Amino acid sequence: MASRNGRRLWLAGTATAALVLPLGWFWQQSLVPDTYDLAAMGVADWGGGPVDEHAAMAGMPGTPVAELTAPPDISADIRETLVVRAEGGGYTVDGASPGPLIEATVGDLVEVTLVNDNVADGTTLHWHGVDVPNAADGVAGVTQDAVLPGEEFVYRFVAEQAGTFWYHSHQVSHEQVQDGLFGGLVVHPERADAEVLEQVALVHRYDDGPTLNGRPGTLTVDAEAGQGVRLRLVNTDNGITSAWVTGTEFQVLAVDGSDVNEPEPVEGAAVRIPAGGRVDLGFVVPDGGVRVDLGGTTAVVFGQDPASARPRRPDDVVDLLSYGEPAAVGFEPAAPDRRFDYIIGKRPGFLDGRPGLWWTVNGRLFPDVPMFMVSEGDVVVFRIENNSDDTHPMHLHGHHAVVLAKDGVTATGSPWWVDSLEVGVGESYEIAFVADNPGLWMDHCHNLPHAAEGLVAHLMYAGVTSSFVVGGDDGNQPE
Ligand code: C2O
Ligand code: CU
Repeated sequence: MASRNGRRLWLAGTATAALVLPLGWFWQQSLVPDTYDLAAMGVADWGGGPVDEHAAMAGMPGTPVAELTAPPDISADIRETLVVRAEGGGYTVDGASPGPLIEATVGDLVEVTLVNDNVADGTTLHWHGVDVPNAADGVAGVTQDAVLPGEEFVYRFVAEQAGTFWYHSHQVSHEQVQDGLFGGLVVHPERADAEVLEQVALVHRYDDGPTLNGRPGTLTVDAEAGQGVRLRLVNTDNGITSAWVTGTEFQVLAVDGSDVNEPEPVEGAAVRIPAGGRVDLGFVVPDGGVRVDLGGTTAVVFGQDPASARPRRPDDVVDLLSYGEPAAVGFEPAAPDRRFDYIIGKRPGFLDGRPGLWWTVNGRLFPDVPMFMVSEGDVVVFRIENNSDDTHPMHLHGHHAVVLAKDGVTATGSPWWVDSLEVGVGESYEIAFVADNPGLWMDHCHNLPHAAEGLVAHLMYAGVTSSFVVGGDDGNQPE
């Protein structure tokens, strides 16, 4: 009897050990050190292009991220100071959320001093969609240290592209952005049409509900019949939204800060705006006024409200893959120097010791994800594929990419330049860009809680070395 029981126990013990020991190993392997250099994590992926032997993952000589700045001898055209505070259970920038709209003209050197009054975790400002020099990108632990209470940081960049952008914290961003630490940024063209009425609308759902420019409900703008309008829509939320227009036809003038080539008039179709994305709509206000609905929760009305009841979302969607007319993109994506896969999945595992179902990049869990390695001047193609059970608005810092194809269908419209691209469940995209902005750049999901759950990778230039660490004395925590 005793021996039988003993054998059973032994068997049970062995079975448990067979289960627990590997789990323990995976758990241990998943632990992220308290402090780490991003460039030393993950696996180098050279995308089938030449491997730069001198650009080892860490510890090699090169240009530090912190030195990749705007020319220090150019003086500022636009100078702002933004004071960030934790108050009322959220965050404010200069006492409000959203913070002040920053406006510049293309070519201006913009200089913003961030002052952290009392945000205990520290904070930063990232210029979403602006291809700034790396050191001004505002990512804690990647391009700077988090700015602690009482500290300041100066951002300097030349606004090289006219368009609609925004800024937000990139320290504990899944909390700080949601709770109000963001604002709008518009770069005007050299010769803006003074006749056109410009309106910026930042879409944001705070804990209390959906808002436009910080207010719930409908934003009404005075406008006479015949008035031309450019409405700059910014989605600062974690999920996609859409806009639809009642009362007139409209054009999609720009997407993610890039003008659409020869945009045709649209009627009865909604325009989708991914998390982090921007869309500029253009129209002329008719006698009866214009109403632009956003996600069915907020609206902007120009003149009279042409709708007696809240208009429902049209079933049709503007397909940016075929919208507008083709034009040159300025490089040859057909024969890229490097080709990368960014395949998103989900599987059980441990993320920093926490068991769960986590996002994967090319089958790997953060931080054991690919480091996409490029050399300056490379033409780069990314295939982004979403094999997970949720949609992901993918955002590459420091670059604009042009969409080549979606689900194998080649783009036929205007060059569709993106920095925030919705990749739906089961969808795949091919995008291309020129690696023309040396640095260490995040490439992550802009549903910010997903980024905090590990949907983050980086693009790194050979010859660049990191200057900062995640964790560390300042508690850098970019996601
Ligand atoms: Cu809008 Cu990495 O951020
Ligand atoms: Cu996501």
